[in-house]
Amino acid sequence: MSTPSGYRRISVDSSRSREILHVDSFAFAFTVPAKDEDFLDRMMPWDRARAIEVADESRGTPGTLAAVHASFAFGMRIPGGAVVPTSGLTWVGVHPGHRRRGLLRDMIDDHFERSLARGEAISVLIAAETEIYQRFGYGLAVTDCHLELGRGVGLRDIAGSSELHVEVDTASADKHGTIIREVQAQAQRPGMFATLAPQTIADTFMDLEIDRDGAEELRIVIVREGARPVAWALFQRKLDWTPSGPAGKVRVRTWGALDAKATHRLVSVLCDFDLMSTTSMGSFASDDPFLTLLKDIRGAKVAVKDKLWLRILDVKAALEARTYSADADLALAITDDQLEANARTWRATITNGAAIVSATTDAPDLTIAAQELGAAYLGGTSIIQLHGAGLVTEHTQGAATALSNAMAGQGQPASNLYF
Ligand SMILES: CC(C)(COP(=O)(O)OP(=O)(O)OC[C@H]1O[C@@H](n2cnc3c(N)ncnc32)[C@H](O)[C@@H]1OP(=O)(O)O)[C@@H](O)C(=O)NCCC(=O)NCCS
Repeated sequence: MSTPSGYRRISVDSSRSREILHVDSFAFAFTVPAKDEDFLDRMMPWDRARAIEVADESRGTPGTLAAVHASFAFGMRIPGGAVVPTSGLTWVGVHPGHRRRGLLRDMIDDHFERSLARGEAISVLIAAETEIYQRFGYGLAVTDCHLELGRGVGLRDIAGSSELHVEVDTASADKHGTIIREVQAQAQRPGMFATLAPQTIADTFMDLEIDRDGAEELRIVIVREGARPVAWALFQRKLDWTPSGPAGKVRVRTWGALDAKATHRLVSVLCDFDLMSTTSMGSFASDDPFLTLLKDIRGAKVAVKDKLWLRILDVKAALEARTYSADADLALAITDDQLEANARTWRATITNGAAIVSATTDAPDLTIAAQELGAAYLGGTSIIQLHGAGLVTEHTQGAATALSNAMAGQGQPASNLYF
């Protein structure tokens, strides 16, 4: 599809920061006070920022921005441990005066073309509304377990946890950014961003007054083993005086930890601030070992929701980059409405954990759409589950089980950052 008539695609630099903010503040219904308007300058990856501009008077004042999007450059961990260049779609907004004219569809084409040209075989995003991106081949690859924990949450003991050293400070990208980088780089679960652009650090530490809703400024907990950081959390407390006394809330915005021992120490601190009665904390994988340390899983009010949506942009490159749990030799018919180069039958020959993928004219053993392949890619959703739901079609008996066994991960994927 081409850009709708009366509009044109452009790259935008920091000189248009306020105009971008204008479009996104209309799209996402927020207002940034003038004193904070420069925040976008720090966290926008300008070399990857794009817009759609009004090109003629039939659509408004020529030169006005109608829609914007950008992407973060991530190095994402995938099954087998490799870290692959990944394009994290962000800041997608269409001004309400230009909605439903195909501008998002055109921006998605633009995003796919530019990501592929940079050698990024995978795109990921966090969806404002879950329905929007599935039509573009994004599948739900990572879910998020959210816990609401009471003060002094009951945890089973884990050796060595109480000896870990804890610091609590006001969060600062300059002071603490390297700590987050260090812990992220060691995170092994598929879906975790192991390398981050400087703008992602700025975004992670962003602390606008309009987002605080009466809470304190952004704080950080750092857990160390000796000098080595093993866990961190960015959080805010909001005090609430009720007739029966203080009942403040701790909101953990984002956190990372290298193992259950470090998570135990981190959560113990976050659930034991004076005057606070609850701590809400997401980003747990459903099989995170820490969850088995909760004495009262029912009391943790576990809620599961979507987190990372994943789009495979280059089938061959993406399938060859990860490793596999079982041998298989299958002809996979991929359906893909946006990226023609993917939409064909591919033979995946998987031996000793590695796949060789090449186009074939053989009859397919299985038909799978880009969206389902994206959902299964990190090992979080099984092909058997998708087949059971009628979303994968088997032409050769046993093909779904064979692919499922091959793509099965060692554990659930996870994703802890917002972007
Ligand atoms: C969501 C948004 C980007 C859509 O932009 P748009 O230019 O109106 O979208 P398009 O006209 O290109 O629509 C493309 C398709 O998506 C569908 N669609 C658009 N927004 C949708 C939504 N919120 N829910 C479900 N479907 C949606 C359209 O119906 C259309 O479907 P079709 O092509 O299959 O008929 C825009 O409305 C917006 O900025 N919303 C507020 C901010 C937001 O949610 N941004 C996304 C951040 S993750």
